[in-house]
Amino acid sequence: MIDLQKLAEPGSPEAFLVARLDFDRLPRHIAIIMDGNGRWAERQQRSRAEGHRAGVKAVRETVEIAASLELEVLTLFAFSVENWKRPRFEIWTLMNLLKEYLRRERHELVANDIRLRILGRVEELDPTVQHEITSALEATEGCQGLTLNIALNYSGRCEIVDACRRIVADWARGERVEIDEETIGDYLYTARQPDPDLLVRTSGEMRLSNFLLWQVAYSEIVVTPTLWPDFRRRHCFEAILEYQGRERRFGSSSVEQAAAASSGVSRRGRSRPKESPEGVALKESL
Ligand code: FPP
Repeated sequence: MIDLQKLAEPGSPEAFLVARLDFDRLPRHIAIIMDGNGRWAERQQRSRAEGHRAGVKAVRETVEIAASLELEVLTLFAFSVENWKRPRFEIWTLMNLLKEYLRRERHELVANDIRLRILGRVEELDPTVQHEITSALEATEGCQGLTLNIALNYSGRCEIVDACRRIVADWARGERVEIDEETIGDYLYTARQPDPDLLVRTSGEMRLSNFLLWQVAYSEIVVTPTLWPDFRRRHCFEAILEYQGRERRFGSSSVEQAAAASSGVSRRGRSRPKESPEGVALKESL
């Protein structure tokens, strides 16, 4: 049961947003392109490193809110394959922030039943980063709540290339592999996870930037002008409300969509338990 008190203080502006959420139609998977750390720093006349450090605070709050909303998956785009083109000091800063985050938050993740997954070419990262990743993966292995994907040294095109290579390797070993959409999905880094229902990009940029290219085929995209370090629970609720206001057709017309809705058939694999009377009462009290 979602604990509404963890979502917002009664009477706060966030509580008004929570009261408008439809808890039966929450996204299962939210993916976020965290953009704008550099511009945030520039506006505050601070260094880019400080912008990234402020971005970690937003990461913490977003993970907390995703877990409180009982989402299945949250995917954060932390470092792309293309980001190696940045100045060495900036790369060093980002890698250190990641190591620090994994080391510091490991116990918090376990305490909140959050399972960590890393999407990307981990084997190309510095051994010290790989060490923190391995420890955090091992520590959270048995967790069964939210899955937190951190995309690190990630590129959507590389992910598809890696999937093709693994399919060919299995084929060469004599495994019979059908080439269809399901198989390709099973060979991606996100195997067995639902595709993102909602893709959020901060800082107003309207680009996919090589993120989850296969998986976002039918995702709803919400772009917010907020710069990532300023992203807080309020922005998360606003993005979900915008998502809930959209009609998702998956290629069908609104007529078929209405028929499917009235017969209870939906693309969502898991139906969320109805809010309990206590939950409804609490929501009203917010
Ligand atoms: C984009 O902003 C952001 C990044 C390239 C890095 C994101 C990393 C973090 C938020 C911190 C570490 C992450 C975790 C998961 C602990 P930008 O630098 O491109 O901003 P700009 O477009 O304004 O220059």
